[in-house]
Amino acid sequence: RSILILNGPNLNLLGTRQPEVYGRETLEMAEAACVAHARAQGLEAVCLQSNHEGVLLDAIHAARGTHSGIILNAGAHTHTSIALMDALFSVEIPAVEVHLSNIHAREEFRHRSFISRAVIGQICGFGTQGYLFAIDALAKHFEREAE
Ligand code: DQA
Repeated sequence: RSILILNGPNLNLLGTRQPEVYGRETLEMAEAACVAHARAQGLEAVCLQSNHEGVLLDAIHAARGTHSGIILNAGAHTHTSIALMDALFSVEIPAVEVHLSNIHAREEFRHRSFISRAVIGQICGFGTQGYLFAIDALAKHFEREAE
């Protein structure tokens, strides 16, 4: 089984972007950790980052038939994008939402997530470790599905 790990706008700047909020680990490091963590559970992880909403939409569409699960940190699109929510509903692939920061402890405008409506669950506040938790969550989900 294969998992698609999608990161949205500004997440390419991880490591140097507001390190007090998002930590010092780069996206490259986080993605490498995801690939290794997934592999240890017999899963393949394919990682993609884009600053363009349309590219994220196309990737979600293309996941149909290719990936068994999606992990999505949509960045600021989380709080605005009905299109990304609709895409997740459309492809019917189990998905987990991740945020490095605890969005509920931050500005009011970050509390609302359109993505949340279309996912199994949300993981936030644990930095890049959240992606690994999300892999575990999907692995469990696949196990339960197979029962
Ligand atoms: C984020 C939280 C969003 O509010 C913000 O716009 C981001 C990153 C996070 O991972 O904590 O770009 O998704």
